[in-house]
Amino acid sequence: MSLLIIGGTGTLGRQIVLQALTKGYQVRCLVRNFRKANFLKEWGAELVYGDLSKPETIPPCLKGITAIIDASTSRVDELDALKKVDWEGKLCLIEAAKIAKIQRFIFFSAQNVEEFKNIPLMKIKNGIEIKLKQSGIPYTIFRLTGFYQGLIEQYAIPILERLPIWVTNENTYISYMDTQDIAKFCLRSLQLFSTQNQTFFLSGSRGWVSSEIINLCEQLAGREAKVQRVPLFLLKIVSQFFGFFEWGQNISDRLAFAEVLSSENNFSNSTFDMYKMFKIETSEIVQLDDYFLEYFIRLLKRLLDINFEDVQKQKNLVI
Ligand SMILES: NC(=O)c1ccc[n+]([C@@H]2O[C@H](COP(=O)([O-])OP(=O)(O)OC[C@H]3O[C@@H](n4cnc5c(N)ncnc54)[C@H](OP(=O)(O)O)[C@@H]3O)[C@@H](O)[C@H]2O)c1
Repeated sequence: MSLLIIGGTGTLGRQIVLQALTKGYQVRCLVRNFRKANFLKEWGAELVYGDLSKPETIPPCLKGITAIIDASTSRVDELDALKKVDWEGKLCLIEAAKIAKIQRFIFFSAQNVEEFKNIPLMKIKNGIEIKLKQSGIPYTIFRLTGFYQGLIEQYAIPILERLPIWVTNENTYISYMDTQDIAKFCLRSLQLFSTQNQTFFLSGSRGWVSSEIINLCEQLAGREAKVQRVPLFLLKIVSQFFGFFEWGQNISDRLAFAEVLSSENNFSNSTFDMYKMFKIETSEIVQLDDYFLEYFIRLLKRLLDINFEDVQKQKNLVI
């Protein structure tokens, strides 16, 4: 089976590329910048130029491809990209996939999309889900929660840099996931016929409230967090005024996800049923505390290495 992976340079996409190559799939990555994507080539993937905002570049990338895994989304710092990439680009991709008789199309959506039509990305995700289902292409849709990787930026780094952590919904349990585990489910779905034309709510095996995540990071960093508690409605107003700051977009983007994720905790017994269907044991799922522990150990090791190099340099200077 030959795979076309879109978004291979992204947080989730790179995990899918790595695991697909390890499993022996032929992997082609549609990328818009060869230099940036060079690490994927070094891993063993074929790179092909494509840009979802340039529809004419899409069809040639699909030649000889059996399945598409689309882990792309517009970058928040690119103006007008949301409509061009997540809507128009994906419509072109679906059309091209239909013509190329693609046997499986995997799309990543978000939880509760239909409830948030006021948030442009959610409205678009919902629309693409519908278009994909109508296309007749065999599909699998994964509706995702937040990624562990995003929590590093949201909690661990501010604690380490003594910056405030903005907390919006104190009592909402969110079952975040490691992108490595999401990649595992994604690739397993290619092997299971029963996952064809299905939509899955994929979430971690345990929910976390923000205070628990902060406590965990405080323990691991050995430092107290500066927590700023702000009601969601107030942050929304503030983010509109601060739109001109570099981080304004970032905050409103996070807000959008905070709102989406906080609406409901989808973690339930059906999550375990889904794990069973994919033949993935709960014990195989990376837990958030283990993920953070590994992050802090790696960070500490790097700091020790830097310190060691500095000492060596100073010694050399003295000599
Ligand atoms: N992050 C979350 O918490 C979360 C939650 C729910 C759902 N999701 C969904 O999960 C998927 C993966 O998210 P992610 O956070 O891993 O994404 P990401 O890290 O932001 O990566 C986005 C990827 O899309 C590519 N891309 C952007 N514009 C493109 C274009 N015009 N043509 C081709 N490729 C383009 C980027 O390529 P460049 O490197 O060239 O920019 C990059 O590889 C997305 O569908 C996202 O909506 C994410």
